[in-house]
Amino acid sequence: MKKTNIKKIAISTGGGDAPGLNAVIRAVVISALQRGWECVGIRHGYNGLMIPEEYPDGDGLLTLTRKSVSGITHLGGTILGTTNKGNPLKYPTKGRDGKMCEKDRTEELVAAFRKHNIDALVAIGGDGSLGIANILSEKGICTIGVPKTIDNDLDKTVITFGFDTAVSFATECMDRLHSTAEAHRRVMVVEVMGRYAGWIALNSGISTSADVILIPEIPYDVNKAAEVINKREKSGRHYTMIVVAEGAKPRGGSVSVMSKEIGRAEKLGGIAEKVAKELESITGKECRTVVLGHLLRGGRPTTFDRLISLRFGAAAVRALEQGKTGVMVALDPPTVRYVPLKQATNRMKTVPLDCDTILTARDLGISFGD
Ligand code: F6P
Repeated sequence: MKKTNIKKIAISTGGGDAPGLNAVIRAVVISALQRGWECVGIRHGYNGLMIPEEYPDGDGLLTLTRKSVSGITHLGGTILGTTNKGNPLKYPTKGRDGKMCEKDRTEELVAAFRKHNIDALVAIGGDGSLGIANILSEKGICTIGVPKTIDNDLDKTVITFGFDTAVSFATECMDRLHSTAEAHRRVMVVEVMGRYAGWIALNSGISTSADVILIPEIPYDVNKAAEVINKREKSGRHYTMIVVAEGAKPRGGSVSVMSKEIGRAEKLGGIAEKVAKELESITGKECRTVVLGHLLRGGRPTTFDRLISLRFGAAAVRALEQGKTGVMVALDPPTVRYVPLKQATNRMKTVPLDCDTILTARDLGISFGD
């Protein structure tokens, strides 16, 4: 086993927050302190290092002690703060012409790591943040990634932390919507996050006996969804539950984009409204929409998410101790293992069309609008 010379490590949380972030931070800090290492947290992704002038009193880098991580396992959000606008590879910068453009500022970031004598980094993030982590490791920063995202779209790990909490909460919301939809004889169209992957919609939709699930992996025909509503009407079931992933798109059409800004990923949203309007005009039934949005990201992590977050955090520190770099901690039940960050961020993990969950939904008579 390689010996490590680590004395000081940094932790960064980047991209959209996910329940379990604080549990990872706690596990990393306690495990690192036990090895005699110093621990700092970088505020808001890498902003604490890249724009220190915005953090008065040197607040861009927080010293993390045993006390800083006390009682945080069950808390949503992240004690370090996060951002999805601070990608050092595409940092929003004012150009000479006064217009905003994207600039690669990774060299500055590497220099900041050196300046603060940071020997290693635990980067907690989704595909964007772990892509950055991979570049940092290639540039010589000893880096371990931890897979976070409610979307569950990271490859090479069975699951990301945050996903279970998001699905559980979506399930609870849909149970509640189910009863009111039935009472009012309405069609309820529920939009859930997930970006270009349908994991949240699929898992929560099946778990709540939705009638139609629309996911990005299966472009839909709205007439097929309308058929489901009409068929149910005829058989005396006067309400219909439809779950739509924010990244779902009609056959031959494109995703619903709310906005696109320099230095960040496009914002998806609006698909439930579109689907509901179309269904209302085809079927004549009252169609109502609910967008669960950021509710899926907030709140307390489930027991499952707490546990994998703590396991991921401790495993990240063990990896550093073993001299590993450029790898991500991955869940491979019953254990955790390490996979190259490059592999994990190479492709997005979408729902395989032949997976047993899709087959189960079809066997249960759930329509994908195809
Ligand atoms: O990646 C997590 C996620 O919650 C996606 O499901 C969603 O599309 C996106 O982040 C929303 O990000 P924002 O916080 O910028 O609205």
